[in-house]
Amino acid sequence: MRKKIIAGNWKMNKTVSEAQSLSAAIKRELESEAKVDVVLCPPFTAIAAVSQEVSGSQIAVGAQNMHFEPNGAYTGEISAEMLREQYCRYVIIGHSERRQYFAETDASVNKKVVAALAAGLKPIVCVGETLEEREADKIEEVITTQINGGLEGLSASELRNVVVAYEPVWAIGTGKTASPEQAQEVHALIRGLLAKLSDQTTADAVRIQYGGSMKPANAAELLSKPDIDGGLIGGAALDATSFVDIVKAAVDA
Ligand code: PGA
Repeated sequence: MRKKIIAGNWKMNKTVSEAQSLSAAIKRELESEAKVDVVLCPPFTAIAAVSQEVSGSQIAVGAQNMHFEPNGAYTGEISAEMLREQYCRYVIIGHSERRQYFAETDASVNKKVVAALAAGLKPIVCVGETLEEREADKIEEVITTQINGGLEGLSASELRNVVVAYEPVWAIGTGKTASPEQAQEVHALIRGLLAKLSDQTTADAVRIQYGGSMKPANAAELLSKPDIDGGLIGGAALDATSFVDIVKAAVDA
């Protein structure tokens, strides 16, 4: 079966020294929970320090964004190879905050996913509807466009290295979580779309995380659903104990 994956998206939080203490505390509290993949995604400036802190442990490091070109005149941007050099194994692509504030589109998401995979990074591709879209009954339409556009042209073996994160925009940082049933419904929809893009066996191998106000109190129930294979955690990932409690919920799920 699919191995659960819990990732912490630290967003624009934590200086290098704060990131070192947080990752050290997570490593200490995790002990040997090898049954679940654990990923920490600090801001770019703290990636090297966090990689060093967790080296030799089961914890992997990821970035929150990257550029699709390998190098060149793109002031302020970071390439996949630069992330690999700092021992990143994952990269979050197309987070709703990137789509909302930095004009990312399904087309740019697709270019980044292709570039990440080519460089040996596993992309965590975020999709999700806004409250207006949910209320207008457009969930299926929005998710279908995002999945088909973002993952266009990938081979089955590439798709197996992708993690999808379903993050309803209205649940991010708001304290409002999708109910386990609401989340499961969209996760099943996503898995169906992945099967259409490739085949059922491949779709069954892809991990689909839930994100949006996941915390220790609601993690176990969300993670018990058949198509919810992990979590992308924002606020609750900034505290070692709450993040580790979510990992433990995934171990027990
Ligand atoms: P949240 O953020 O857990 O603070 O809602 C999740 C995310 O944006 O990845």
